[in-house]
Amino acid sequence: MGDFLELAGKRQSCRGFLDKPVEHDKLIKCVEAARLSPSGCNSQPWKVIVVEDPKVVSEVAKCTQLLGINAYFSAAKAFFVVLEKHAKLMPKIAQLVDSQIFAKGDLGGFALSLCLEAETQGLGTCIIGLFDRPVLKELLKYEDTESVFLVIAVGYPHSDKVRNKERKPLEEICRFV
Ligand SMILES: Cc1cc2nc3c(=O)[nH]c(=O)nc-3n(C[C@H](O)[C@H](O)[C@H](O)COP(=O)(O)O)c2cc1C
Repeated sequence: MGDFLELAGKRQSCRGFLDKPVEHDKLIKCVEAARLSPSGCNSQPWKVIVVEDPKVVSEVAKCTQLLGINAYFSAAKAFFVVLEKHAKLMPKIAQLVDSQIFAKGDLGGFALSLCLEAETQGLGTCIIGLFDRPVLKELLKYEDTESVFLVIAVGYPHSDKVRNKERKPLEEICRFV
């Protein structure tokens, strides 16, 4: 078994990609890993559009460049466009809470699994939270009941150097009782 802590430490947002295509099978493996993610009432409120056609990849890259930032995603070789769907919760639970209450967390886990499996495949990823929704909708034609949750840029990283993680110290985020 590999060391998960080591994998978590190696994953980092990749903002420089090689001019090397990403194998279709590697993208499928990422989706397979994400498909196994847990979700509230096992509702699996997700879908993912894997963008690998170079023409569509370049259009999605443009959608991620709002506010003049994120120019580096023009070099990405693929994108995962993660969609949020209606979460069907158990009736008893649905009486108490909004149907989407767990969905954001579920989708966060789904997205991280895509990224971590990509890391094991030697791929770099970067989660992107800002994008041109109307243009993406026109381009990818997903259903009206679905919305884009996150976009993830994918490609072979320009550098394998692992940067220092800037994170709050353990004592600040964790308390033992
Ligand atoms: C919801 C979300 C949105 C993000 N959006 C962007 C983005 O638009 N552009 C970018 O370069 N990085 C983006 N990031 C990456 C974060 O900046 C990065 O995860 C954080 O700084 C920690 O660095 P690391 O991923 O290298 O460990 C985003 C990350 C998340 C989770």
